Order: sequence, then C-alpha cells, then structure tokens
Amino acid sequence: MSKARVGILISGTGSNMEALIRAAEPDDCPYEVAVVISNRPGAAGLDRAKALGVTALAVDHAPFGKDREAHEHALDAALRRFGCSYVALAGYMRIMTPFLVGAWQGRMLNIHPSLLPKYPGLDTHRRAIEAGDAEAGCSVHLVTAGVDEGPVLAQARVRILPRESHQTLAERVLAAEHALYPEALADLVSGRSTPPSSS
Ligand code: GRF
Repeated sequence: MSKARVGILISGTGSNMEALIRAAEPDDCPYEVAVVISNRPGAAGLDRAKALGVTALAVDHAPFGKDREAHEHALDAALRRFGCSYVALAGYMRIMTPFLVGAWQGRMLNIHPSLLPKYPGLDTHRRAIEAGDAEAGCSVHLVTAGVDEGPVLAQARVRILPRESHQTLAERVLAAEHALYPEALADLVSGRSTPPSSS
C-alpha cells in the first residue's frame, strides 16, 4: 500500500504530533509522517519527534522579520523536499498568509480545542465553562483563510463536569484530541471523509 506522506507543523509541545506519529506505526495506516517542522527552534516537539524516529527540523520565522510570506515559502519548500502531500498543523501558532493556505488547499488540516464554530481563537475551555456549556470538545478542520473557520471534518465531544476547572477540562479535551486527530487524518488521506469544500 502506498502511504500518503504527511508533514506536521508545530510550535511547541507536540503531544498531538506524537499521537499522529504513533498512530502511523501500523502497516495498515494510510499515512506516514515524512517530516516535523517547527517555526521555533527550541520547540520541545522537535526532540520528541526525533526520539520517535521521525526527521524533525526548524524553519525559524525570526530571520524573516515581518515577511510572513517569505517564511512560508521556506516552509513550503521544506514540505515539498520531503515529498509531503498533506500538512497537519499540531499546535502551530502562526497566522498564515493566503500563499500557504492556497498552496495546500484541501490538504492542510488543523486541530482546535473547541466544538467549532464555537470558540475560535484562544482560551476556549475557560470560555466554554463561563458560558455554562454542558459540553466542550475538539474539532479537526481544513485550513482556510479565516482563523479556525475551515470546513469541519470531525469532532469529539467531552462533557463538562460540575465545577470543573478549565485546566482539567483542557486535559480531558487534549486526550480526546489525541484519539480524534489520527482518525480524521487517516479518513481524509484515504478518501473516507469528503469535506464540503472538495465536493
Ligand atoms: C492543542 O490544544 C491543539 O488543539 C491546539 O494547540 C494545542 C497543541 O498542543 N491547536 P500540543 O502541542 O499538540 O500538545
């Protein structure tokens, strides 16, 4: 079976990245992780990827200053050098320009810690608790020009417990993310999910 080659972009810890790498180990997984790239050279996820036997490198945004697109050209070149046909964002904390979004349209996905379209942006768990929501969760979506706005491919729901803190809710949602993301990625690369934008 020929596997889809996936590049993972990170900025930090990389726990979702690790879940994606571990889920790719079985022979019947339809994707393989070709490379992990961080925009921050010190990201803990880089060492974590290397420890799991995956090539990991930094394409630091700092030397590019305000020229976001130039940084994205360097990222894009690295992804193509490793033969990637899909990109998974896993805690990648840079807003993208239309260049990178357009270059990977329909083939770049992200995981977000809320039940989109609720709570795009940051601080999702605190906002869900303060709103008195009965449930929180996470969403895997295709990346489009608007932040956290692309078509949703999959969601997992997590019940909010009475008097729960946003920290424990975050931990429980993160565990749900680790199960959801590999499944959603596998479904996309194998054509099992047909996102609205590509239909
Ligand atoms: C996760 O909460 C994910 O939903 C969000 O960024 C966080 C990344 O965490 N996009 P990790 O680096 O995967 O541990």
